[in-house]
Amino acid sequence: GAPVEQDISKLESGSMVKVNWRGQAIFIVRRSPEMMKQLEDPALADRLRDPKSEQSEQPKYAKNDTRALKPEYLVLVGVCTHLGCAPLGRFNPADAELGADWPGGFYCPCHGSKFDLAGRVFKDVPAPTNLKVPPYRFVTDGVVQIG
Ligand code: FES
Repeated sequence: GAPVEQDISKLESGSMVKVNWRGQAIFIVRRSPEMMKQLEDPALADRLRDPKSEQSEQPKYAKNDTRALKPEYLVLVGVCTHLGCAPLGRFNPADAELGADWPGGFYCPCHGSKFDLAGRVFKDVPAPTNLKVPPYRFVTDGVVQIG
């Protein structure tokens, strides 16, 4: 499939836009400073199955702590690595439904898999690996190209 471009210059801090690429949803999240802080919580890594993304799929340039080319922007394939449902962005840590210690991230309603704000899967959920990061690049500061 052909690459797709998305204008992210007006994407607000803390919000997400979805783009269609090769028939699948791509999530682009502009992480707020509060979201970045959640990722830096040293207690978080212990709760994740693959905190360093060793078993998970991402381009080389996204194999880092934020799983991103630019830490502020998270780009993910919006397909659960369990059986392919669409996870929901649940960025609010006060989301009581997801537990008192929810750090914000993604929730898959099909079988309850949970992922953090870098798309990394939590332990004790059915999804085996982190959400995939697709190949992408910044054409300009305000435009990202997927594929
Ligand atoms: Fe997402 Fe099963 S498909 S938890």
